Amino acid sequence: MSTTTVIGRTSPELKSAYEKDGSCPLPYRFDDDSVELLRRRVADISAQRRPEVVHEKDSDVVRAIHGCHEFDDVCAALVRHPQLVELAESLIGGPVYVYQFKVNLKQAREGAAWPWHQDYAFWSEEDAMPRPDAVNFAIPLDDVHEENGPLVVIPGSHTMGLFDLPEKSAESGSDWRQHVSNDLAYTVDAGRAERLAAEHGKDLILGGAGSLHAFHPSIVHSSSNNRSADRRALLLITYNAVANAPANPTRPAFLVGRDTTPITALHDERLTLRPVSDLG
Ligand code: SIN
Ligand code: MN
Repeated sequence: MSTTTVIGRTSPELKSAYEKDGSCPLPYRFDDDSVELLRRRVADISAQRRPEVVHEKDSDVVRAIHGCHEFDDVCAALVRHPQLVELAESLIGGPVYVYQFKVNLKQAREGAAWPWHQDYAFWSEEDAMPRPDAVNFAIPLDDVHEENGPLVVIPGSHTMGLFDLPEKSAESGSDWRQHVSNDLAYTVDAGRAERLAAEHGKDLILGGAGSLHAFHPSIVHSSSNNRSADRRALLLITYNAVANAPANPTRPAFLVGRDTTPITALHDERLTLRPVSDLG
């Protein structure tokens, strides 16, 4: 371990772009060795039979793995990366902890879509998260292009509240499998999303493996089936403000982090994040 990696504080321009659009690239990139190490851990975890590993419908194809920072030392080091922690604290304001960690594998030809939705609908309705004072960091572990199911966001939609919430049923909560499957419990009506996109546009989150992107819990987003020959693994870390921790979450701990103590930044020499001067 060393402590020699301080690479700058979050700029006001970056913060205001995030606040305005609800999504923005972050000017850093994990190097190839870091990405390769993360890919190897993802492959190892995906081969395990454990509740954190979720498959595509009626299939052995792994759709996603969850909560890996709780049991894998590389993923645990990743969430403590000083620059990620600094960015999260700066974008949210105040100390943060890890609310959620997942890798959506989006396997070549078999990875299924994510319908239009807002993450905060799940966190508000299922966990009673008080406010959307959290941030998602997306780190692709494969190159993301237009054909392998990139994340698509509607800029500015994070300021519009939650859309199309279902009536609360008598028994509280839905099956958590409907929070990680193609058949999501909380979706934004497709017609509404298309109208929003016609007015505000759509941004495709493209980028090379190891790149870094932030998006807001309330932004309307989706991604399509992967019909290409290229996998699109996307690692997602959600940091939540410590002051915004749900009081009594009931969903599995691999979907809702229970350790709400402020995360301590720690450099790990296996994970190198470099500034990118030209994001292209
Ligand atoms: C995806 O992996 O394409 C969807 C990610 C998300 O909905 O947060
Ligand atoms: Mn989402």
